[in-house]
Amino acid sequence: MRLKSTVYLLLCVFICASAQAQLYKPRPVTALLGAFDEEIKLLRQELKNPKEHLIHGIRFYSGKIAGKRVVIAGTGIGKVNAAMTTSLLLRQFKPKRVLFTGIAGGLRADLQPGDIVLAKSTLQHDFGAVGNNLFTIWETRNPVLKQKNPLYFKADSLLLVMAENAAQQTQFQQLTTQGRLPQISTGVVATGDQFISSETKVLQLMADFGADAVEMEGGAVAQVCWQQQVPCLIIRSISDKADSNANETMINFTTTAAYNSANLLISFLGKLLD
Ligand code: ADE
Repeated sequence: MRLKSTVYLLLCVFICASAQAQLYKPRPVTALLGAFDEEIKLLRQELKNPKEHLIHGIRFYSGKIAGKRVVIAGTGIGKVNAAMTTSLLLRQFKPKRVLFTGIAGGLRADLQPGDIVLAKSTLQHDFGAVGNNLFTIWETRNPVLKQKNPLYFKADSLLLVMAENAAQQTQFQQLTTQGRLPQISTGVVATGDQFISSETKVLQLMADFGADAVEMEGGAVAQVCWQQQVPCLIIRSISDKADSNANETMINFTTTAAYNSANLLISFLGKLLD
């Protein structure tokens, strides 16, 4: 009888301990990700008391911006790199929230280089089944809960509202027509392992998924955060129109678009409590 209750007790302790180990206990630190150096350049310049952490070859930089604890990293381009860096980030730094900053191809006709799209949701436009002349989009699967994920990962609503407010108080650099200030909007951001420079694909992404902008990392970062229940927001500034001129347009506008998106994050941090 005694042995039985001891075994039972030990079992309970073991189950509780392993459940505890699974718990994500966020720390008062905000993670700021971009895909490549240009996208995180301004953030690194603003970082006070920077400390470098090399984790599995990825460089993370911790310190303070606007008096708030942050950790910054460049994920590398594409969904796999973005997911890898996000996983290492959550495991090592346990951030309270994850914000992604960078450039994107604008799909909606009114979007011009330098404009900002705050992703109200993201989806992975290239995840699915290919048949003869037919692509069927699939929901990703959550290996933690063994369930289907939603097709669209919604942004954390508080982060979205805070970013909209911060945008009102941010000085953006102008890119196109004289006198036209960069416009801020919310929208659907489509992510895929493809650089889009095709008018046909632009129309398809808008018609099939209601997408406003296209890029190569946001949906992957959002999926990792969703699966670990960490609040996340993807912020993008338009560098091109994803059309046949996308490559040249992007080369001309990347610096300013990346600056605009990162500068919005700095205003955002100024509004945070911790
Ligand atoms: N990032 C910036 N422009 C892009 C485009 N046209 N396609 C995919 N990712 C992008």
